Amino acid sequence: MSNTKTSHPMSRRNDVHQSDIAAVRQLVIDTGFFRPDEIEIAVELVEERLTKGVASGYHFEFLDDSDGKLAGYACFGPIACTIGSFDLYWIAVHPSHQGHGLGRELMTTTESRVRALNGRRIYIETSSQPKYESTRRFYVASGYSIDATIRDFYAPGDDKLIYVRAL
Ligand SMILES: CC(C)(COP(=O)(O)OP(=O)(O)OC[C@H]1O[C@@H](n2cnc3c(N)ncnc32)[C@H](O)[C@@H]1OP(=O)(O)O)[C@@H](O)C(=O)NCCC(=O)NCCS
Repeated sequence: MSNTKTSHPMSRRNDVHQSDIAAVRQLVIDTGFFRPDEIEIAVELVEERLTKGVASGYHFEFLDDSDGKLAGYACFGPIACTIGSFDLYWIAVHPSHQGHGLGRELMTTTESRVRALNGRRIYIETSSQPKYESTRRFYVASGYSIDATIRDFYAPGDDKLIYVRAL
């Protein structure tokens, strides 16, 4: 896909560049939200996509600001051994751009692309910890609801919540 202007002064793209390795790392660090091991996984998905292409199973949506700096991104892909179920692995917006509809735009574009890939459902996993309250509200505002709770999954008292949206 070529670059497309959005309603914000942002450019949308879904091709992955070598420079996204560093850009995604910096973005997820700047959110202040993720542990070092989580940051490494975010970066690994970009690297995997650059190495294997579409066969990696990782698809990306990027929003770049007017200076070409990464403002937000989403990573999603089909879940193996399912028919039309997809995972949203990552969605993050730089703190300086949060609250201006970029997260919603990334979500909407992701959903359109999943539909185009014959996807039926998008799943998102998150933690029940208070730290993720804002993330959970964002998912609910985006039309997702909790489909399953796996108790004590991450740690005692820290459940895994599985959100879903049927497309
Ligand atoms: C979650 C995140 C992607 C949302 O992006 P954003 O650009 O700030 O969100 P938007 O401005 O598009 O908001 C979309 C909707 O979510 C709601 N929302 C967003 N952040 C919210 C918050 N902190 N509290 C409550 N609601 C929130 C908005 O009210 C809006 O709903 P509305 O249109 O009905 O008013 C962004 O805050 C972020 O990167 N957070 C840190 C990383 C993270 O949690 N990622 C998800 C786990 S991988």
